[in-house]
Amino acid sequence: MEKVTVNRLRKLKLQDQKIVMLTAYDFPFARILDEAGLDIILVGDSLGNVALGYKNTLPVTMEEMLVHTRAVARAVKNSLVVADMPFGSYQENDDKAAANAVKLVKAGAEAVKIEGAGYISAVKKIIKAGIPVLGHLGFTPQSVNLLGYKVQGRGTRDERKILKEAQALEKAGCFAVVLELVPEKLAAKITKILKIPTIGIGAGGKTDGQVLVTNDLLGLYENPPSFVKPKVNLRKIAKETVADFVKETKLI
Ligand code: KIV
Repeated sequence: MEKVTVNRLRKLKLQDQKIVMLTAYDFPFARILDEAGLDIILVGDSLGNVALGYKNTLPVTMEEMLVHTRAVARAVKNSLVVADMPFGSYQENDDKAAANAVKLVKAGAEAVKIEGAGYISAVKKIIKAGIPVLGHLGFTPQSVNLLGYKVQGRGTRDERKILKEAQALEKAGCFAVVLELVPEKLAAKITKILKIPTIGIGAGGKTDGQVLVTNDLLGLYENPPSFVKPKVNLRKIAKETVADFVKETKLI
C-alpha cells in the first residue's frame, strides 16, 4: 500500500473513493490498523474516555497525547497519523497552539486535529508552520459542557452556522473536516459544497469518509454511542479467555 498523505486524501475525494479513519492509542492496535489498510489513524483525545478511564476528553493533557502519539507513530508505516490537540492546548494563544502542534509532530504526528471554528488564527499559524490541520465540527466533545451530548445543526440557523464554519476552516487551509453528530442532510450538503474531504461520525453515509473510535467498533468500550453497531464483542471474548485461564491455572 502507498503511504497516505494529505494530497492523496484530496485525490480520493476527487475520485469519489471513501476515506476510512479509526482511532488508536497504542503500538499493537496502531500496527493492526495500519496493516488493515486504513487511510488515517487518529490518536484521538477519546484516549481520555476509552483508555484512561476519564469521564470525558477534557482532562487529557499534552503530555498524555505525546506519550500515545509516540507509541502509535512507532507502529505505523502507511496510514496518515493525525493527533488531537487536547483541551487547553490551543485556546490560550496562537503561539502556544503552534508550539503544541510542533510537539505533536516531533512525537510522530503528520497532522493535528482541532475542534470547532473558534480558533481560525491558530489554525492558520499551525499551517504556516508546515503542519496540516484537520477540522472538527458539529458535536465537538471538548465543548460537551456547553453543547450537551446531542445532534448539532438542527434547524436552519444552526445548519447555516455549521456550513459557514466548514467553509471558514476550508478557507483557513484545513485539509479535511470531521463532521460529528450532524443530520445526514446537512453532512451531505457540506460534502457537496466543500472541495476538501468531509469525514463523518454519526453523520450518515453521505460524507467523503467515515471515522469511528476503534474501541466502539470492536466492542471494547462499555458505553458505545447509539449510532455504532460494534462488529465484534472483544470485551466478552477477552473476559471469557481470561476467566478460562484463571480456571485452568487454579484447576477449578
Ligand atoms: O477523539 C476522537 O476519537 C475523535 C473522533 C471521535 C473523531 O475526535
